[in-house]
Amino acid sequence: MSLSLRFTVFVFNAEASMRLDLCSWQEVERYLEHSTGIIIPIGSHEQHGPNGLLGTDAICPEYIARGVGERYQVLVGPTLGLGMAQHHLDFPGSISLRPTTLIAVVTDVVRSLLRHGFTHVFFLNGHGGNIATISAAFAELYADHSFRRAEAAPFHLRLGNWFMGKRVTALTDALYGASNGSHATASEVSLTYYAHPEAVKQVEMQPRVAPAGGFRDAADFRQRYPDGRVGSDPSAACQEHGRQLFEAAVEDTIASYREFTASK
Ligand code: NI
Repeated sequence: MSLSLRFTVFVFNAEASMRLDLCSWQEVERYLEHSTGIIIPIGSHEQHGPNGLLGTDAICPEYIARGVGERYQVLVGPTLGLGMAQHHLDFPGSISLRPTTLIAVVTDVVRSLLRHGFTHVFFLNGHGGNIATISAAFAELYADHSFRRAEAAPFHLRLGNWFMGKRVTALTDALYGASNGSHATASEVSLTYYAHPEAVKQVEMQPRVAPAGGFRDAADFRQRYPDGRVGSDPSAACQEHGRQLFEAAVEDTIASYREFTASK
């Protein structure tokens, strides 16, 4: 007769990954015992000019968030890689969500996390076109609470744009000045080259600095900005700049995250 003993020993691994997708649910439960904050990278999948990657706006916040997670033991959720990019749809490969779709995605992600006991959800964003929609999603979540209850909501939401951080802005100004531009910027292209050296592209820009201005829909955008850049000269992008920008962005993000999670 053989006796088989089955038992489970759960050992908390101090070296556990800070990536939510690589955790077990028990590890998340343990994390929640000492921290209820989480970072969610959010970006877009859209053209980034002649030498920029379609995934730029998701790659940048994901890479920075994982850097913060590893160095400062902050849990990092799955990257929301599709955003509000309707104005890029005239360029092949671009994929957009409607604003209302993105609002639904963000609110459902937050509601899922709140259900488990997270109280501070920090979205690290890589796409300017997401800002209005993410803010609207936050307003929806607070409105849910306002219509139901008199007490203050027991959760906090923050939108951090990596490209607008204090250290990143100072470094970007020093490296590129005004020709960093506002879309397919030299700084974001540098950061993706640092994250993905296998995807570096050498392309001559014509004109060197792209025209700047506004836009409406996809056809209007392409007419104004034929190669997809807005105000930028990303031929100045390189991996070494990307490394410096990464270090600056990690420090900006952890400072903002700590200030945020201290709020009650
Ligand atoms: Ni971008």
